[in-house]
Amino acid sequence: MKATARAHTNIALIKYWGKREEALILPTNNSLSLTLDGFYTTTTVDFREALSQDVFMLNDEAVTGEAYQRVTKFLDLIRGLSGKTDLYANVHSINEVPTAAGFASSASGFAALAAAGAKAIGLNLSDQELSRLTRQGSGSACRSIYGGFAEWEMGTRQDGSDSYAVPIASKEHWDIRVAAVVLSSTMKKVSSRAGMKRTVETSPFYPGWIESIPNDLNGIKAGIQEKDFEKVGAIAEANCLKMHATTLGANPPFTYWHDTTLRVMHTVQEMRANGIPAYFTIDAGPNVKVLYLPEDEARVEETLRNIAGVTDVRLSKAGSGITYL
Ligand code: PMV
Repeated sequence: MKATARAHTNIALIKYWGKREEALILPTNNSLSLTLDGFYTTTTVDFREALSQDVFMLNDEAVTGEAYQRVTKFLDLIRGLSGKTDLYANVHSINEVPTAAGFASSASGFAALAAAGAKAIGLNLSDQELSRLTRQGSGSACRSIYGGFAEWEMGTRQDGSDSYAVPIASKEHWDIRVAAVVLSSTMKKVSSRAGMKRTVETSPFYPGWIESIPNDLNGIKAGIQEKDFEKVGAIAEANCLKMHATTLGANPPFTYWHDTTLRVMHTVQEMRANGIPAYFTIDAGPNVKVLYLPEDEARVEETLRNIAGVTDVRLSKAGSGITYL
C-alpha cells in the first residue's frame, strides 16, 4: 500500500483571497493559476498495518507539531474516504521549493500528499475528485493537480462537493515564463489564512474585490486562449494590486509589501515602458513573480538581478500536473 507522486507549485494570476467556510476551505471567489516546473514536492505514502500512528518526514527530518497535525488530519480524510480508518502511514516528502523563493510549499505539498495517499490506500480518484480532496489540505493546492493553466471553481454547495479546480489550457498551449524574484529582507509575515480572514471580516474594499472577479476571469481566460500576453499580464497585475489593496483596508491594516517589493514592481513597469512586456504578481509575502515571454528571458533576468535588495532570480516554465513515480 505504497505510492509516490510529484506535484508542482502554482502561481495565481487571479488570486484566491477569502474563504466563505473555514473548515472545508470554501473560497469566496474563483481563482486561476499557472503551474510551474521549477518548484515541486515528491511524496511517498506507505500505509502499514504495523504502525500505530502516522510518521511524517520532510527532507529527511521528522516533522512534529502543527505541520504534523495538518498532515495527519489530511490523512484522516483519505482514510475516511477509503473506509480503512485504522491504517497509519509513513509519509516521506522531498521539497524542491526553496522557502527563500517565496513560494508556499503547501500547494505542491498537499497536492503530492493527496495524490500519493489516495493511490496508496487504493482509492481510484478522477482529477476532479483528487482536486476536491486536495482543496481540504490547502486551498491553492487544488489547482496543482493540473499542468499549465487551471481554474478553481468556488462552487455554491455548502458541503464543498462542487468546489474544485478544472484545467483551462495545457503547458504545451503556451510557453510563458515566470521569474521568482527573491528579496534579501524578510518581514514578519501574516499567514495567508489569517490575512484572508482579517480582510474578509474587516476590509471595506473586500466587496469591490469580489465584484471585480468575474470580469478579470473572463478577460484572462480569453487572453490565454488567444495567447495575448499583454492582455493576460495586465489583468494579472491589476488583479494582484486589487488583492493587496484589500489588506490596506483591513482592521488592523497590513501589507505584505516591503520597500524592495515596490522597487521590483516599479522596475517591471519601467521595463514595459522600455518595450519589454513583463508583468508582476505577488502572493501573501514580499517576493515578486514576474511574467515574461521566452524571447525576453535574458533581458528580464538581468534587469531583475540588478535591483538593489534582490538576492536571487529563479526562472521557471509552465509545469505539469500530478505525476506518479
Ligand atoms: O492556499 P493558501 O492558504 O496558501 O492561500 C493562497 C493565497 C494566495 O497565494 C495569496 C493566492 C492564491 O490564489 O494562491
